[in-house]
Amino acid sequence: MTEQALKALLDSMTIQEKVGQLIQCNAGQFIRNQLEITGPDGETLPTEEVCRIMGSVLTFEDAEQAIALQEMHLAADPKKIPLLLMLDVIHGLRTTYPIPLAMGCSFDDDLMAECADMARKESSACGVHVTFNPMVDTARDARWGRILETNSEEPLINSRMGAAFVRTAQGNDLSDPGNIACCVKHYAAYGAGEAGRDYNTVDLSERSLRQDYLPAYKACVDAGARLVMPSFNALNGIPSVANKWLMNRILREEWGFSGVVVSDYNAVGELVAHGIAADHKDAARLAMEAGCDIDMVDNSYYLYLADLVREGTVPAEMLDEAVMRVLRLKNELGLFENPFHGADRVAEKRLYLCPEHRETARRAAEETAVLLKNEGILPFREDVKHIALIGPFAEEKHLNGFWSRPGAERDTVTIPEGIRALLPDTELTVERGCGAAIGDTDTGGIARAAEAAAGADAVILVLGEPENYSGEGRSRAELNLPGPQMQLARAVLAANRNTAVVLFNGRPLVITELAETAPAILEMWYPGTEAGNALARLLWGRANPCGKLSAGMPRSTGQYPMPYNRMNTGRPKPPPDCKPAPFTSCYLDMPNLPLYSFGYGLSYTTFSYEKLEIDRNEITKDEKLHVAVTVRNTGTRAGKETVQLYLRDPVASVVRPVQQLIDYKKVALEPGEKKEIVFTVSEQQLRFFNAEGKEISEAGEFLVSAGYADHLLLTEKFRLA
Ligand code: NOJ
Repeated sequence: MTEQALKALLDSMTIQEKVGQLIQCNAGQFIRNQLEITGPDGETLPTEEVCRIMGSVLTFEDAEQAIALQEMHLAADPKKIPLLLMLDVIHGLRTTYPIPLAMGCSFDDDLMAECADMARKESSACGVHVTFNPMVDTARDARWGRILETNSEEPLINSRMGAAFVRTAQGNDLSDPGNIACCVKHYAAYGAGEAGRDYNTVDLSERSLRQDYLPAYKACVDAGARLVMPSFNALNGIPSVANKWLMNRILREEWGFSGVVVSDYNAVGELVAHGIAADHKDAARLAMEAGCDIDMVDNSYYLYLADLVREGTVPAEMLDEAVMRVLRLKNELGLFENPFHGADRVAEKRLYLCPEHRETARRAAEETAVLLKNEGILPFREDVKHIALIGPFAEEKHLNGFWSRPGAERDTVTIPEGIRALLPDTELTVERGCGAAIGDTDTGGIARAAEAAAGADAVILVLGEPENYSGEGRSRAELNLPGPQMQLARAVLAANRNTAVVLFNGRPLVITELAETAPAILEMWYPGTEAGNALARLLWGRANPCGKLSAGMPRSTGQYPMPYNRMNTGRPKPPPDCKPAPFTSCYLDMPNLPLYSFGYGLSYTTFSYEKLEIDRNEITKDEKLHVAVTVRNTGTRAGKETVQLYLRDPVASVVRPVQQLIDYKKVALEPGEKKEIVFTVSEQQLRFFNAEGKEISEAGEFLVSAGYADHLLLTEKFRLA
């Protein structure tokens, strides 16, 4: 349709029909013609009339349901405006790849794009028009259960991976039924909730917001994301969905975003609970004024928006603009011509869990695993005959993580299945040992587990967090291994030193004791469908671990928040970090630095950083600096290394971070092989927000380094003229 035709359609609509385009409910509610009561003021249910004119639906099941919903709606809607169908496809639809935090550990934007491509194919076949992805919240506190949904604590990784997802999922032409639109979320700074508690309030300086939080959302908007979802939290006193500065001033004016804003679930109604709206009518007005187009599931728009417009409290043009944005998106998706978009029951069956997708998911699971410790016991020798597989997650099927589809566990390759497929002759003894729930004290199985460990050639001890301990609304105040898992670990490690600990979890955990006592630790996160196959291949060296931590692992929960790119202080703690230094910024009872820093991860081979060279000592604002880092594989196996480039601005008009990741590249090296990795640094990467809130660079000296956080191996100095 032309813009003119869309405008004519808009002009033909009643106020109520226009409001209909801005309301959304769950597929289940739509089908039952009923809205579940989710908001504080939910006594009124939408009538059949509302479902007829409703603009979008979220959370449906499959192509069959997508087609049925659209047919049902189009048959009833007098204006025949197709529904938009939205779904949270976060790390795969049916073929699940590792959780986003794990994907960040791959430091591999191409791998992200490959996974996004698989998600795009499965989702479009399922009938999805919009996915609520990417989630690019900077998360520096693992108490927050949603840290698993983001790629990293570092906005650069979130920006690059988020943009890669958007470009791949949306393609060049949204009307292509194979492409889907992306909704970047949760704008803004949802990950900075006080005390790591979900939905909690956020108070940030504008400098910190602009430097550490906004860039990733902006990168996704620049990559073309068609929708934005404001976050649940209040930011500096104003909940995002009503935050005019954030939404109108920054998103629309400064960044030029012209797409659709969809509230988070019930967030408009929650303005009442936040205490900035007197009632739901007020909430609808506030959200409209802040440019929120669609009211997800709550019924504030449904009940009050038409009245607000009729009374003149909300200008009619404001309503029209919001509706036009929704209609334009539908038009771009080609829904007026093909309301079913890619929904295809046959393609769905063919694509779900097909061998290529499984292969991608397996490779992703291998590339995102982080080898935290290895005293030479991994990879296991081929002649290891008898394995004891021990721990509460030894036979677990829930290894997909939050936002995997209900029932996803049925498709998961378990660890015993993975080991048996790779090494059919291995003798496997499985012992659960204990539970892993908070408050679980049953240690009854530990003795048997230790006995099994003692009788085996090698032990795989599988520990972690139950799958439902991370995700939305799942914050924890203590990040230990829940239940009696450490008791189990002590007994097993005492019984057999040839033990590799494998971890499944959705957030960095406190594993300080394990790090001292276990000979090997492999962090698997939630690897998804191919969990068991990927793990077996990693343990037996068919795949070589290459993941690097995308968020640091603390020694204690008390260290949070602990960003790797922390600011310096007037009393920085001098090395060594292991003991306190009086009257400096330090703890009396533990080091400052995390147990494992951001960017850390081992391999079955070793790499040496041989040199870092710069091609000039000074650049002007228009020149580029080339930084060449030479890395050699000094071990005996082929492997991949992520070369990370850090910057430090030692003297500036405002305090700058002690280290800042400015680029990364992953490189594959054969044994003995060396490669020179060249990075280009420009003035843009040297910018920051000064005391007046302006983004500038300042002339002077800079340090550029290679290594990983707090372990910068090679450094050079250059100047900006
Ligand atoms: C609430 C979550 O915060 C958001 O991430 C998600 O996209 C919506 N619900 C829709 O399911």
